[in-house]
Amino acid sequence: MRTAKPVLRESHHKTKAAQETFDLGRSLSRQLRLGDVVALYGELGAGKTEFVKGICSGLGVQHHIASPSFIIINEYPLQLQGERATVNHIDLYRVLTTPDLLGLGLEEYFSGQGICLVEWADRAKSFLPPHRYDVRFQLGEDESTRTISIEEFDGESA
Ligand SMILES: Nc1ncnc2c1ncn2[C@@H]1O[C@H](COP(=O)(O)OP(=O)(O)O)[C@@H](O)[C@H]1O
Ligand SMILES: [Mg+2]
Repeated sequence: MRTAKPVLRESHHKTKAAQETFDLGRSLSRQLRLGDVVALYGELGAGKTEFVKGICSGLGVQHHIASPSFIIINEYPLQLQGERATVNHIDLYRVLTTPDLLGLGLEEYFSGQGICLVEWADRAKSFLPPHRYDVRFQLGEDESTRTISIEEFDGESA
């Protein structure tokens, strides 16, 4: 039997505007290192892309971050800790079949040096590395409220 993966850190948040979700992403960006994977879960409009924009802003990505509609993976180059790095924004919303998923080369992305931000990460569950951040978004009691949980998992003892 697989034991549950240990959570290194866990935090729970309620945001009351898109800007607050952006700011939360920006603050998570300070923890991120090359090669990290951030898996984002939550329905359409829950705030995943707002959070991604905040992370990218915090990391210093200069490009406009689009909500990829037809493009599944956007790669943004940046300088991070004095090194050339890449942020891979992966949106699996339109990836509905296993062959499509297998064709994306996710193993390479997840084992590489780029920072991966993955929307609809539940669609790539079996590919996600044990050391990662899981960020879950839920719609709140009104249209501008969201609850967001952030967990960091320890890859070593998974
Ligand atoms: N607290 C909030 N956090 C994030 N987005 C919010 C919030 N309140 C309202 N919104 C709105 O909800 C939408 C979230 O869209 P988006 O980030 O693209 O969602 P997703 O990527 O999860 O589909 C945006 O239009 C944003 O302005
Ligand atoms: Mg999105």
